[in-house]
Amino acid sequence: MATAVSSRFEVVDVAPKIGSAIHTDKATLLSGERAKDIREIMERRGVIVFPEINLTDDEQIAFTHTLGTFAHEDGEGAKDGKDSVYPITMDSSINPIADYLKGAFFWHLDGTMSEKPILASIMSARALAPVGGETDFCNTYAAWDELPADEKTQIENLKVIHAMWRSQLYWKPEPTFAELEAWMARGSNTLPLVWKHRSGRQSLVLGATALEVEGMGTAESEKLLVKLRTWATQPQFSYRHTWKLGDMVIWDNTGTMHRALPYDHKSGRLMMRTKLEGEEAFA
Ligand SMILES: [Fe+2]
Repeated sequence: MATAVSSRFEVVDVAPKIGSAIHTDKATLLSGERAKDIREIMERRGVIVFPEINLTDDEQIAFTHTLGTFAHEDGEGAKDGKDSVYPITMDSSINPIADYLKGAFFWHLDGTMSEKPILASIMSARALAPVGGETDFCNTYAAWDELPADEKTQIENLKVIHAMWRSQLYWKPEPTFAELEAWMARGSNTLPLVWKHRSGRQSLVLGATALEVEGMGTAESEKLLVKLRTWATQPQFSYRHTWKLGDMVIWDNTGTMHRALPYDHKSGRLMMRTKLEGEEAFA
């Protein structure tokens, strides 16, 4: 005999051009029965908030699996075949490479050093800073769509060289030579400024790793990149998430940028992140 299932699943937009909140329950999320809807909303709205859903680490891993291919952190997890959540914190006793995460305080998308960036990140708030620590998101599809036509024509075929070291200079403008060399060992990656997705939609590819526009002089390149970042991060394309304990947020990494707002690095703020493997190369 079929059992009647009544599951809550209410979708409310949180900003005009980016972000929806889904009010639901753990069982609905873990069942996977709404996975297709969540994928569709994520692509269309960029960011989804699950207010105070309070998933445990294991539940977050299980939920991530319902949406796509679970992405392991570099070299970690895959070794013992176990999936794991990744701690985002400035506490180096919890995350030994906490310093490296400081690039996240500036607008970026994840995975600009790979051909196929991760599809999405899923982050849960486990401990909050008393002040600050919000996460900003902007919709790079909407930012492209609303650029004036003549500007679109000027930039649509440009390529941008991305390098991880550029984003590290944001938080450490005077590294030692050894630090710079270590960052530079990650190499660089040349990406289209305008990503033409399989869906037919287009988005801007910008962020803190954007070093220079290929074939353009340094000053002109910097002007264009700053102009476009300023454009894409305007309030009408953005959503600022003020975290509550137990909130979980998922964002489409391929059509958004994000950044953390400053907070006391000794506050104990702790987020747990999982990721979905990329499904489409920059093109
Ligand atoms: Fe990030």
